[in-house]
Amino acid sequence: MNDQAQRLREKVNKEAAPVFEKDRRTKVITVTSGKGGVGKSNFSLNFALGLIEQGQKVVIIDLDVGFANIDLLMGVSTQKNILDMIDKGSTIWDIIEKGPKGLEFIAGGSGFSQIFELDDGKLNYFFEQLAQLNGYADTIILDTGAGISNGTLRFIMAADEVLLITTPEPTSIMDAYSVVKMAHNKKTDIRFHVVVNKAATPKEGRQTGEKLALVAKQFLKLEVAVLGYVPEDGHVTKAVKKQDPFYLSYPNSKAADSIRNLVDLFVSNGEVNRKESGMKAFIAQLRTFWK
Ligand SMILES: Nc1ncnc2c1ncn2[C@@H]1O[C@H](COP(=O)(O)OP(=O)(O)OP(=O)(O)O)[C@@H](O)[C@H]1O
Ligand SMILES: [Mg+2]
Repeated sequence: MNDQAQRLREKVNKEAAPVFEKDRRTKVITVTSGKGGVGKSNFSLNFALGLIEQGQKVVIIDLDVGFANIDLLMGVSTQKNILDMIDKGSTIWDIIEKGPKGLEFIAGGSGFSQIFELDDGKLNYFFEQLAQLNGYADTIILDTGAGISNGTLRFIMAADEVLLITTPEPTSIMDAYSVVKMAHNKKTDIRFHVVVNKAATPKEGRQTGEKLALVAKQFLKLEVAVLGYVPEDGHVTKAVKKQDPFYLSYPNSKAADSIRNLVDLFVSNGEVNRKESGMKAFIAQLRTFWK
């Protein structure tokens, strides 16, 4: 082999090999909502880019059953998804795709609901592959689909943190409350953080969050944290049409500013003060909830 070919091969091998950082704790965040179409996928993607700006390594897993969303929002087409991985016995590294700024993502695929009908062997394989991400990223973001299914509920219960997205519409607030109630009935120590999306004014953003927190406190005796709000901003729609995340295409927009702010708040909220947390605990809990 000539020198050039040798160097190229080394380069490719180097790029293909996943890099792990020793002692890196991989935080798992589930992004969810009651009502659909409230902005979960846009939030997940742009929040991920905000975390990356702070030096984090982030992987998004698109658990949306209907349509693979995240890839469309960044103009990248996905070739492989989780179901391919399970069916063909390929590894998680074979299906991980690259997005902008070092963001990586994994598509659930349009048949992702089948994940809940897998036999034990395949399910085990799925968990084993997911577990490989431990130490690979600082944060794993799970973008869930519309509506609350049994599957979504498990990912909510197993995550370190849950970002619950609602808009100021009363129906959206009530559906978000239903998610909190349903999940809280099954597990009491879930860490919810409310994000109000599409707020017309700062006041509306604040009041919506307070309303949801108040209802949870009154009826469930549960403290729900309010992370903040993202304003209704035409740049979001423009960015969706351009298939370029607003955090990158309109970095000075109100929406991007608010994401930067929310990332700061979220990161400075500090470490989870729990005995069991991170990717390993996440997989262990998923296994338990799947039974
Ligand atoms: N802050 C915002 N300002 C203006 N428009 C927004 C904002 N956030 C989201 N949108 C609009 O709402 C639409 C739905 O957003 P998105 O696809 O992120 O929602 P979703 O909750 O992931 O939907 P689904 O439940 O179907 O997965 C987007 O196409 C975008 O145009
Ligand atoms: Mg979505």
